[in-house]
Amino acid sequence: MPDYRELLAIVRDERRRLAEAGPRRARSEGDFERVALPHDDCDVLRDLLVAEHARGVIEIGLAYGSSALAIAEALLVHAHPEAKHVIVDAYQHRFHDVGQEAITSAGLGAVCTIIDERSQLALPRLLSEGWVADAAFVDGSHHFHNVFVDLYYLRELVRPGGLIVLDDCHWPSVATAARYFEVNAGWRPEAIDRVTRLRAFRLPDPPVEAGFEAFEPFGSDPTP
Ligand SMILES: C[S@@+](CC[C@H](N)C(=O)[O-])C[C@H]1O[C@@H](n2cnc3c(N)ncnc32)[C@H](O)[C@@H]1O
Repeated sequence: MPDYRELLAIVRDERRRLAEAGPRRARSEGDFERVALPHDDCDVLRDLLVAEHARGVIEIGLAYGSSALAIAEALLVHAHPEAKHVIVDAYQHRFHDVGQEAITSAGLGAVCTIIDERSQLALPRLLSEGWVADAAFVDGSHHFHNVFVDLYYLRELVRPGGLIVLDDCHWPSVATAARYFEVNAGWRPEAIDRVTRLRAFRLPDPPVEAGFEAFEPFGSDPTP
């Protein structure tokens, strides 16, 4: 069993180092700043998950590892022996495996599992294997159809009453996918009392499955 206090200190150091010095390697000049979730938003993500007492989290989109380390930090805070962080990223090799290295060098092997596959294929498999998460963070493909499929499976992978956090809802493709579930599946926007680009949705408990006759046309919220 890992020593959670020691791991927590290592993860916090790694997060600080990544925010201050950047990744060990980057795809190109300025790519880290363009791609990674900013440090303050990572703190917001961490605090949301700490408040949830999340033990199981699914993340889509590892890249340089900024959000992954923040999620890992949140999972370590409560030192639950079943803490599990599943990270799905199909294109980590394009980031020179820097995110994966950050997870490994922080000693998170027992807590984090990285799945090197498109989330649209990995999530249905996790579902059929019976995986249940308390929360999810979505920052993978930003194509509407991929985000929609991710959210479709997360609706079942995250337990009723759980939390789904998204980055980049300022993109119509992402906002529109989320909007379907808000309008038609009972997802409630969760207030975040800090300045952040993240959006969070609370899943209904019990789950909502309205008849198809009740379908409401949806579009992206013009003021997300
Ligand atoms: C915006 S970056 C994620 C940034 C990361 N959350 C951070 O804070 O550093 C998007 C990531 O999603 C991954 N990705 C893109 N399409 C994907 C897909 N269909 N399935 C899984 N991962 C995907 C990319 O490889 C990339 O690492």
